[in-house]
Amino acid sequence: MALMLALLIVLGLFPGIPLGFIPVPIVLQNLGVILAGLLLGPKKGTLTVGTFLLLVACGLPFLTGGSGGIAHFLSPTGGYLFAWLLTPWLMGSCEKIFNPKHQVVKEFIFIWLFGVLFIDGCGALWLSVYEHMSLIKALAANIAFIPGDSLKAVLALLLVQGLLKNKQLASQLQ
Ligand code: BTN
Repeated sequence: MALMLALLIVLGLFPGIPLGFIPVPIVLQNLGVILAGLLLGPKKGTLTVGTFLLLVACGLPFLTGGSGGIAHFLSPTGGYLFAWLLTPWLMGSCEKIFNPKHQVVKEFIFIWLFGVLFIDGCGALWLSVYEHMSLIKALAANIAFIPGDSLKAVLALLLVQGLLKNKQLASQLQ
């Protein structure tokens, strides 16, 4: 959990890429959120992402671009941050129900649904309220994130599959 927290913080050191047409940059930290869900499961993953968000809320500059503070949760990116908290829980809980163990395609669908579509959907919903734009427009703008976020989901899956080949690590994580 401590390592994952550190990874989330380190991913925030990579500068965000502004898109111009919405006040939300392309970032790497959502890759850390997906990895937290995959490697730590629903409880520990949520606790880790929750701790990260709590530190941000306390003012620590851990978000991309060195920002932090409680006000950030009410900024245009507030919806994504809220979704980050729920993502490990949703990913882990649904996996338990459907148990797609070791089936790469199913596993990827779960990661994509909750680590990509859910986060971008919540972000769009909040953005439409915050920026007084129609939900359709906000959702359409968020389509720009889908290719990059899908790549992050593939990367997360490959990383986790590689890591879990190490039997000692796999048993420690279970
Ligand atoms: C923040 O630093 O305030 C949060 C930024 C959230 C950016 C979101 S996460 C999902 C989507 N994919 C990206 O690369 N950027 C947005």
